[in-house]
Amino acid sequence: MTDVTDEPIYKTDALIAEDIDRYLDVHQHKSMLRFITCGSVDDGKSTLIGRLLYDSKMIFEDQLAALEADSKRVGTQGQEIDFALLVDGLAAEREQGITIDVAYRFFTTEKRKFIVADTPGHEQYTRNMVTGASTADLAVILVDARKGILTQTRRHSYLCHLLGIRNIVLAVNKMDLVGYDQAVFNRIVMTYRAFASEIGITHFLAIPISGFKGDNITGPSDNTPWYKGPSLIEHLETVEVDQAADRARPFRMPVQWVNRPNLDFRGFSGLIATGTVKPGDAIRVLPSGKTSTISRIVTLDGDLDEAVAGQSVTLCFADEIDCSRGDVIAIADSPPQAADQFEATIVWMADEEMLPGRSYWLKIGTQTVSASVQAPKYQVNVNTMEHLAAKTLDLNAIGVANLSTDKPVVFEPYADNRALGGFILIDKISNATVAAGMLHFSLRRAQNVHWQPTDIGREHHAALKNQQPAVLWFTGLSGAGKSTIANLVEKKLARMNRHTFLLDGDNVRHGLNRDLGFTDADRVENIRRVGEVAKLMTDAGLIVITAFISPFRSERDMVRQMMRPGEFVEIFIDTPLAEAEARDVKGLYKKARAGELKNFTGIDSPYEAPENPEIRIDTTGMSAEEAAEAIVARLIP
Ligand code: ADX
Repeated sequence: MTDVTDEPIYKTDALIAEDIDRYLDVHQHKSMLRFITCGSVDDGKSTLIGRLLYDSKMIFEDQLAALEADSKRVGTQGQEIDFALLVDGLAAEREQGITIDVAYRFFTTEKRKFIVADTPGHEQYTRNMVTGASTADLAVILVDARKGILTQTRRHSYLCHLLGIRNIVLAVNKMDLVGYDQAVFNRIVMTYRAFASEIGITHFLAIPISGFKGDNITGPSDNTPWYKGPSLIEHLETVEVDQAADRARPFRMPVQWVNRPNLDFRGFSGLIATGTVKPGDAIRVLPSGKTSTISRIVTLDGDLDEAVAGQSVTLCFADEIDCSRGDVIAIADSPPQAADQFEATIVWMADEEMLPGRSYWLKIGTQTVSASVQAPKYQVNVNTMEHLAAKTLDLNAIGVANLSTDKPVVFEPYADNRALGGFILIDKISNATVAAGMLHFSLRRAQNVHWQPTDIGREHHAALKNQQPAVLWFTGLSGAGKSTIANLVEKKLARMNRHTFLLDGDNVRHGLNRDLGFTDADRVENIRRVGEVAKLMTDAGLIVITAFISPFRSERDMVRQMMRPGEFVEIFIDTPLAEAEARDVKGLYKKARAGELKNFTGIDSPYEAPENPEIRIDTTGMSAEEAAEAIVARLIP
């Protein structure tokens, strides 16, 4: 299998790993809190973050000077520094007046160090929020005291909860603009409490603040004598975070790479997801299940007696057992499970909608497998929390669906372990991250349906027929001549005593695939089923000939991967659209042009021509008979 890019889950860690390393060096002894701020452009989020950075004195002199100059230039807020300018660092963002990506900021106080993910409030940037929230311990949900709880407050809270953030701060901002009125604050808190309990947020802390004036940011404010709770910074400094819980869980470390500089040393490097590990511990490598004992824990600063969740280490074993990138090292007596079918929540992040049945790369921890998602069980309306029926998921949609992988994945439910339960889906052709997801549980049928061994195997079937099974996969536009040529090829093979079977698009669509139409999703499913049937037929020893438009590269490649090497022969019937349309044997192009037939390939539905077909037939100036002859000559020289 080809490996895809090395980006870690949700890309978050790659972005900040370097900075964190530098940062940790300086403040090694302090505990760390990662948090995310959520709110819309005008809730005062940037001002609040700027204030936190400024008050914690982590702004460098030159940055401050630039800031004061900028504030004057922009001319906002009189003499005071505009903290929003500090955060909206990117020029492009400032021009647009909105924040468009996740920005990570570091600051520190006497007690703790902080990494804050600043994510935009705009609806279309769910992706950024998911990225920021996936590693956060706490979320600050900002609301404007004048506006109260808005739809986007609910959406952000839901996403934070979904992504496993258990500490929520409701920061009721701009209290200065409502005269520090306790009644206003109380009303907002009550409304939020009702909503929060609906989505499973059991507790949260509400703080009345003014990011602009500084009320209840670093210490108690005289303007809110009725508020007895901690200031924002006090809370951030003292709140208990899940790191302790992660450490208490059984030991798991996904292997990032095998470190083998010479024959005397072999170590397995990775970030410890949960638990603690010591030399002498009995471990198990998954999915193989092989066991050994930890002999050393190696780091750049020397060997350790113990390592805990959150640390990057290299582990050495007492025995030479197989272990490679993508495997998970776990405590021997309490290993995680492996499965190949799951239920999961999926956040769709691509402009193109999800195609149920299409094969995507799924990256979970350091494992990469092929996975396909079924049609969603439902989609969540993030504004009302309603479950809606859905056939697919489009940009920013969140839904629950079953998915299956081509080989077992070592996992834990996301709720227990973000590293082994959080995944991304990557488009195999464009390499773009199209979704983030959270595994709920494995489906029991994955554990209960086994391969039934059969005594008469595929070799036996093929030997009886005295031939090598193969799939001759014809692809091309409607009217290109696939069926006609495929039919002639089959006749020629039959005359040579080959055992063949022709699967034709129009025919299969009358039976097995009668329920499918011509949307992208239906075409994906059409080809998936035909691929499975073709596979069974090669197991029966047959030479399978298929004639389907099969317009997408992804699905043709998927079928190729299902077959043995060399067995799949892609035959591109390369007829130009104009030619196919001129022939218009079935009169369908005419209908499509007249708008009477939707999603017609070549007209308003795409055809992705093969890049490297085994055989390409240019039908202009060649009869069907000549084409068939040329193909057979290539197959049986
Ligand atoms: S595929 O795209 O899913 O591979 P398939 O080969 O099964 O398509 O079916 C294509 C045949 O269905 C065409 O040859 C044509 O006769 C018929 N057809 C009906 N509607 C469409 C359409 N919208 N687009 C393409 N073919 C269509």
